[in-house]
Formats: sequence, structure tokens, C-alpha cells
Amino acid sequence: MKIAVLTGGGDCPGLNAVIRAVVRRGEQHGLEVMGVREGWRGLMDPPLHDRLTREAVSGILHVGGTILGTSRTNPFKKQGGADMVIRNLKALNVGAVVAIGGEDTLGVATKLHAMGVNLVGVPKTIDNDLSGTDLTFGFDTAVQIATEAIDRLHSTAESHNRVMVCEVMGRHAGWIATYSGIAGGADVILIPEKPINIDDVCEHITRRHRSRGVKFSIVVVAEGARLGGGEAKVNEKLDEFGHIRLGGIGQQIAEMIEKRTGFETRATVLGHIQRGGTPTAFDRVLGTRFGVTAADMVARGEWGKMAALRGNEILPVPLAEATARLKTVDDAFFGVAEVFFG
Ligand code: F6P
Repeated sequence: MKIAVLTGGGDCPGLNAVIRAVVRRGEQHGLEVMGVREGWRGLMDPPLHDRLTREAVSGILHVGGTILGTSRTNPFKKQGGADMVIRNLKALNVGAVVAIGGEDTLGVATKLHAMGVNLVGVPKTIDNDLSGTDLTFGFDTAVQIATEAIDRLHSTAESHNRVMVCEVMGRHAGWIATYSGIAGGADVILIPEKPINIDDVCEHITRRHRSRGVKFSIVVVAEGARLGGGEAKVNEKLDEFGHIRLGGIGQQIAEMIEKRTGFETRATVLGHIQRGGTPTAFDRVLGTRFGVTAADMVARGEWGKMAALRGNEILPVPLAEATARLKTVDDAFFGVAEVFFG
């Protein structure tokens, strides 16, 4: 059987590990693998694809990004887009699709599966906000990069007696902020799940400086965090899945802290640095395990499911479960971070 593999949504460290594993395991099952370029866009008109062989995926395991390219194209946003995808799959003689992506890409996969397409999903996002799996690949790398940045901000904060605000990614969920904040010893962590109370933030910082004689503080804020009662500060552009482009909360918070506490404050936005470059060993292994399991699921004809991490096992779970709701930071987990505030 010929299968198609595609990567959709934001890129993510570990994508190439998954692609390589699907091809290598797929060949063992006698599958012919076609790489679709630029996510769902590559299955619309004109289709963009290449044959993927063992040779084609050699040397990519440690490489960031995706050799297939990606896009935030949503076929259901275009008149007749989904039918076009199905028509092209038939014309290319593709029997099944392995879709590697987050809530949007897997949301499209879920709908196409309901329309009769043989689909297997692989959960990807640095945000780690997909349900049905304990972790997504790419998250560990993003946390590692953010933690290293926070460590670096610590030394310059201390040298200058400053408050440093570090804005990390996390549109709807504060997993990167919480993990990197705990790992980097942040004094305050702000996440989308909890509206920001600027009085509390300033109180934590002031108490730390006054009572402990410390002259610097580190604040980690997720890009999707918003001030209590207010909206997230956004750029007005929307993508095809209706998502706003976030950014600016770090600078906004920094200005408020400086004005209210009198402590000199600076903001740093990590942005796409968290998504680029080589994946950690953990993400290479997780991506490889997901890819092998996805190819096994295709061989077994287990459609409408995604490979998921449950405990230390990789198991098939229904795609619908993964996309039903976002996995956000729970109070118990965030409580660990809060112990160290101020
Ligand atoms: O979904 C992953 C993510 O990195 C989010 O954390 C972030 O808000 C978004 O993608 C940025 O998207 P883009 O690269 O399209 O600006």
C-alpha cells in the first residue's frame, strides 16, 4: 500500500525523527511512503509530494524543522477543499495518511476520517496542550531552550539589580512557562489559565527584595497570559484556524512592574527560538517511538487514532479524544511552582 505522511501547523523539534521512523518502519511493513509538502496544502491543487525512501530520510534525525515543510492550511476553510484532498488521495493511489500535527492538523484529520479517509495521527506541539497523550514531542526541547535562557537572564538580572521578564510561547496553555519557570527558579510565573493579578505580582517581587535583601527577580510569562478582566494583547491577524497572533504581554508586564515597584525592569521575548534547531535526545526518542507506532497502526489498519504516550507506553487512542479539549495546566501542578513565588 502507498501511504502519505504530512506535517502541519507550527514546526517543532522532532518532526524529522517521526518522518524517518514512519519511513523506516513502513518499509519493513512493505509500505511505500509518499511525503506531502507543506501540510494539508500539499494535498490540495496542485498536490505537492515526493517519494520518501530510506535514503531520503538518512541524516535527518537530529535536524530541526521538517524536511516536508509545513503550513497552517485548513482544507475545510476553502470551498470544496476537503473533497479536493480526498480526490487527490484517490488520484495518487494513496491508501492512508499519517498526519503529524497539533489540535488544528489533527482536527482536520478527525473530520477527514469521518469522511472515509484512512487516517493515523501523531501528536506534535511545543505547547504540550493536546489531550489523550501525556506529552507531545517538541515540548521537552522548548522547555530546555527556555530554561537555558532563564539561566542566562538570571546572571544579567543579578549584575544589574533588575527584574527580568521572560516571555515564552504558550497560546492557550502555560506548560512551557510552568516547566521552564520551575526549572529556572522563576520568582513569578504567569500562565493563560490564571488571569494576571498585577498587584500580586508586584507584591511577590517587593517582598522578595525588601524582606530578603535580594535585588533582582525573574518573571516568566506565557504569551497567552492576560491581565485580570482584560484581553490578551494581540496582533489583530488571524490564521486559517482562527487563531490570533499573540505577543507583547512580556513588555506590558515589565512596564507595569517598573512603574509600580520602582525596580528597573526589562523584557525578553524568546519567540520562535523555542521552536527552531536540534531536538533534545528525549524528543528524538519520543518522536521515533511515535513514528514506529504510527507505521504499525497503518499496517494493522487501525484508523482514526493517534499514537499517544501513556505512562511509558505508546498506545493508539482515538483522534477525537486528542482534539476534544485542550490540556491545560492543572492547579496541583501549578501549586508546585507557586511554592517558590516571591
Ligand atoms: O502552536 C505552537 C506555537 O508555537 C504557539 O506557542 C504560538 O502561539 C504559535 O505556534 C506561533 O505561531 P506562528 O509560528 O504561526 O507565529
